[in-house]
Amino acid sequence: MPPSRRLVLVGFMGCGKSSVGRVLARRLGWSFVDLDAQVVKAEGRPVPAIFAESGESHFRAAEAREAERALARDRVVLAAGGGWAAQPGRLANLPEGTTSVWLRVSAEEAVRRARPRSGKRPLLAGPDPLGTARELLSRREPEYARAHLEVDTEGRTVEDVAARVLQLLESEPGIHTPLETR
Ligand code: S3P
Repeated sequence: MPPSRRLVLVGFMGCGKSSVGRVLARRLGWSFVDLDAQVVKAEGRPVPAIFAESGESHFRAAEAREAERALARDRVVLAAGGGWAAQPGRLANLPEGTTSVWLRVSAEEAVRRARPRSGKRPLLAGPDPLGTARELLSRREPEYARAHLEVDTEGRTVEDVAARVLQLLESEPGIHTPLETR
């Protein structure tokens, strides 16, 4: 197995992909890329505006382009938006040398962390965020479950989750080890 040159963090909204990704990138000495932030930069408007003005399919196309760009880089930790990896084929077709990690969170905890009323997550902005989160999560789980590794984030700090990811990366010879950190 070649060494891992890239990490992609996937999972539902509020699972901590961006916070954990930043810590991992710092610990590895790699770059950190937040997929939503790249889309916002490319589009010049925030995520809720992209959804409202151009629709979800426009957002997904921009997201796919930015993900492809990020995954062409080496020594990078990519925090994908919750919907990116949920689309069939994403995790099965990652470039060689990429390790995917599913950060698990329950719908209840996701809604607590994602603060639906903040308006930042258009998919949870409806009248029943918890019902929507449960439905979306159960539909997406089979795709998230294709990730190489999974870590439960419930009741764990960002630092703990990052430490667990690093531990798994180093101890699972079937994945991509050793980590190439230089
Ligand atoms: C989405 C998740 C969001 C963002 C957009 C859609 C989703 O990212 O990409 O609101 O479909 O789950 P986070 O998972 O970082 O919140």
